Amino acid sequence: MKKKVKVGLIFGGRSAEHAISLNSAAAIYQHLDKERYEPFLIYINRAGEWCLTGNISFNEQELKKESFNSFMPWSSRLAETVDADIYFPVLHGPNGEDGRIQGLFEMAGKPFVGAGSFSSQLAMDKVAAKMLFAQAGLQQAPFLFFTENNPEQIGELVAKKLGFPVFVKPSSLGSSVGIRKARETGELLAAADLAFSYDIKIIIEKAIDMREIEVSVMGNEEIMVSSPGELLPAKEFYDYADKYLDGKTRFRIPVRLGEEIEARVKKTAHKAYRSLFLNGFARVDLFLEKESDAILVNEINTIPGFTAISMFPKLWEAQGISFAQLLDRLIAYGFAHFRNRRENVDEGLGH
Ligand SMILES: Nc1ncnc2c1ncn2[C@@H]1O[C@H](COP(=O)(O)OP(=O)(O)OP(=O)(O)O)[C@@H](O)[C@H]1O
Ligand SMILES: [Mg+2]
Repeated sequence: MKKKVKVGLIFGGRSAEHAISLNSAAAIYQHLDKERYEPFLIYINRAGEWCLTGNISFNEQELKKESFNSFMPWSSRLAETVDADIYFPVLHGPNGEDGRIQGLFEMAGKPFVGAGSFSSQLAMDKVAAKMLFAQAGLQQAPFLFFTENNPEQIGELVAKKLGFPVFVKPSSLGSSVGIRKARETGELLAAADLAFSYDIKIIIEKAIDMREIEVSVMGNEEIMVSSPGELLPAKEFYDYADKYLDGKTRFRIPVRLGEEIEARVKKTAHKAYRSLFLNGFARVDLFLEKESDAILVNEINTIPGFTAISMFPKLWEAQGISFAQLLDRLIAYGFAHFRNRRENVDEGLGH
C-alpha cells in the first residue's frame, strides 16, 4: 500500500473569522480522501495557542476542553507537533491569510497549500494590491489612501478627487471589519476615525454602482479560472453581519453574464492573480459596473471561505470538479510549488 500523505490542517486562529475557519476546516476534513491522506488537526484558539487535537466536531466549546494535549505557544508546538508532509492553513483573515504563517512554513522548509508569504501579504493589503493592479493595467474603483488621520486633508482630497459616496476601509483587515460607506464629509471623517482605529493605513474608494462577481482561480505556472458567480447581498452592502451572521446573502453559481462579459471577467481575474505573483489558489472578487459593463477588480482572497456551501468550492463544482478533487489539486499544487522553489531558487542561491 502506498504511504498516506500526512496533511496538517491548521484552523481556528486569532481573527474575526475564527468561527468560519472551523466550518471550512470541518468541510475540508470531511472531504479529504482518507485512503490517500492522513489528516492531522492543529487547532489555534483565539488566544493564539496551538493544540494538536483529535477532535473532529470542529466545535469551539468542545475544542476548548482539550485536556489530553494542552495548548502551547506556536513556537514550542510547531517543533514538537506532527511532522506533516504538507500543511494546509485553513485560516481566514489576519494571522493566517496574511502571510505570517506561510512565512513560518517557508522558514521551516515545509510544503504548504496556497499562496506564499509574499503574495499573501500583498493580497491582504488593499493599498499594496491596488497599486499592483493599477500597474498591471486593471481597472478598479478610483481610490486614495492615507497614512495620517488629518481630517482637513482627507475631507478636501476626497471631495476634490473622488466625490461622494465613498467606501472607507482599513488597508488590511478583511471581513468588512471597520468598513463604512460615507455620503458626506461628517460621515467620511467618522469613518476615517473608525478605519484608523484598526490600521495605520486606510483606503477610500469611490462607491461603484455594481454587481458583485467572484471567480475561483487555482494553479502555479499554469492557472485555471472558473466561470463567474454572483453575490446577491440582502442589504445595501455586503457587511460582516450579512456575510456571516444573518445568512441572508444569496449566491448565483454560476451566473450567466453573456460570452463577452464572461471572457473579460476571466481575463481580468487571470491578470489580477498574476499581478500579485500568486500560486496555489485564490478567489478574485470583481465589480461589474452597471452603467458601463466595465470589470473592476476589488480584491483577492488567498484563503477564501471553504465550507461546503462557499463560493470557492461551489464554483469548481459547477465545472465538474468535486470538493475532494479540488483538495487533491490544491495539495498537488502545494508540493509542486515547493519542489519548484527548492530546485530553482533555494538551491540556485546555494541555500
Ligand atoms: N468601491 C465600492 N463600491 C461599492 N461597494 C463597495 C466598494 N467597496 C466595497 N464595497 C462593498 O463592501 C463589501 C466589503 O468590501 P471589501 O470586499 O473591500 O472588504 P473586505 O473586508 O476585504 O471583505 P472580505 O470579507 O471580502 O475580505 C464589498 O463586498 C462590497 O459589497
Ligand atoms: Mg470582499
